[in-house]
This record gives sequence, structure tokens and C-alpha cells, in this order.
Amino acid sequence: MIQEDFLYFCQKVFQKTGIDLQSYKFQQMKRRLDMLLKSNNLSNYRDYFNLISQDKEKYQEFLDKITINVSEFFRNPNQFFYLRDKILPDLYKENGPLKIWSAACSTGEEPYSVAMLIKEAGVKIKDKIIATDIDNKVLQKAMRGIYSKKSITNVPPNYLNKYFEKKSDDEYIVKKEIKDMVKFVHHNLLKDEYEKDYDLILCRNVVIYFTDETKQNLYKKFNQSLKPGGVLFTGNTELIFDAKSLGFRSIATFFYQKISN
Ligand SMILES: C[S@@+](CC[C@H](N)C(=O)[O-])C[C@H]1O[C@@H](n2cnc3c(N)ncnc32)[C@H](O)[C@@H]1O
Repeated sequence: MIQEDFLYFCQKVFQKTGIDLQSYKFQQMKRRLDMLLKSNNLSNYRDYFNLISQDKEKYQEFLDKITINVSEFFRNPNQFFYLRDKILPDLYKENGPLKIWSAACSTGEEPYSVAMLIKEAGVKIKDKIIATDIDNKVLQKAMRGIYSKKSITNVPPNYLNKYFEKKSDDEYIVKKEIKDMVKFVHHNLLKDEYEKDYDLILCRNVVIYFTDETKQNLYKKFNQSLKPGGVLFTGNTELIFDAKSLGFRSIATFFYQKISN
């Protein structure tokens, strides 16, 4: 009975938002939804769907809960510095100006970190860095570019001086020259088309929420989206064990290069 109710909810949410809840890990997702039902004093998913269909704030609360969007600048700094010192220069030497996608970018810390590294590495980009997420609210925050002390913990002090302006004790704003390097776009990884010819794709700390099958599909799509020799940069818990069968070879921990045909 509960199962049927839940499936109905998944179908309705998919029709309304294009978010396929069944691609996310079931227990995790259900636990989060059950908490939402409880906090809204509801006992079934049909009523909860009616609620989020009618009430914009409740709909945003639902989105916030299912799309965990914590982020920070230079999340796992060593990997980002490897990106600056090795991956970006090598890709640039091979391909010239780079096409870059930060997929599931949340509030923008990730693509702005990459923009700073592009400057530091002395490489060029073809167009703006494309930064996408399913959640419009995080994209709006990303475009504002204002961050708290907590999210800049890993920013090297000289980068802080060069690329941020201090607004107040707990507010830093990303400078215009960095903002201008990034274009934020709404995109659902589970549903929308993937552009082609990327040199570098970052997809970090999102596939952990998806089922294994969905994860494999996404990695295949990222592979098709990259140029031969292009690189996928994953999150710190996201090793790809069957990289070869997905068309990648591991070139460093959490960096996977598309095998040339
Ligand atoms: C934990 S954050 C990761 C942010 C950043 N990549 C990082 O590593 O710090 C996960 C992001 O994935 C987004 N997300 C979840 N499902 C998605 C989907 N189907 N398509 C696009 N983005 C999605 C969420 O909105 C959230 O902003």
C-alpha cells in the first residue's frame, strides 16, 4: 500500500518536474521524504504531492531536501591543485582553449574555483565555463556570488585577495572578472541533452545519491560528451571501478580520461 502510494508520488513528481526519484537511492530518498511528510503532519504521499503542487514554498522545501546542495570552494583542495598544475596545462597543450562543464554545480563554488584555476594556470577557455544544476534556487545564489567564511575555508589566502571582495565579516563576494567566466544554466542530468566536445567535465558529489544503474548511464553520457582525451573529474568518494568498460582510463585519483578511439 505504502509502496503504491510512493510510486504514484514518483510518477506525479516526474510529470511535474522531470525529476525521476526512482533514479535516486531508494532508502535515502524515502527517509528524507518521510521526514517531510512528518514535518507537514501528513500521512500519505498523495496529500504531500497536493501540498507541493499548490504551495510554492513547500515545493522549494521539497527540492531543497531531495537535492542536497552543500558545496565549498576547492572541495578536496589537493585534487583542485592537481587540476591546476597538471590536468589543465596538459589539456590546453593538446587542445588549445578549453570547453568546461561543471555539472550539478550547486551554489557555484565549484565552477568559480575552476575559473580561478584557469587564471592561475595561464590557460584559456573557449567560451564561459558552463555550470548547471537542477535547482533554480541554488543557481540564483550562484549568480549572486556571495559566500560565507565557511565556504571559503580552503581558498588560498592570495586567491582570497585577488579574486574576492570582503563585504562584511562573514560575507565575501566573487569578483566580476571571475563571475564573467561562468554561465549558469538549469539542467537535469537525468533528462536533458548533454552538449558535446567538452575538454573537462566536473561531476562531483552528486552521483552518490543515484542508483548504480543511473550512475553507469550518467558516466556513459559524460563519456560521449567529452572529446577524445577529455577528462572527467569526480568527487572524493566516487571512484569508477569499471572505468575501462565505460571508455575511460584513470590518469590520477578521481580523474578519468576518455580513451581515444
Ligand atoms: C552536494 S551538491 C554538489 C555540488 C558540487 N558539485 C560539489 O561537489 O561541491 C549536489 C548537487 O546536485 C544537484 N542535483 C541533484 N540531482 C540533480 C539532477 N538530476 N540534475 C542536476 N543536478 C542535480 C543538487 O541540486 C545539488 O546542487
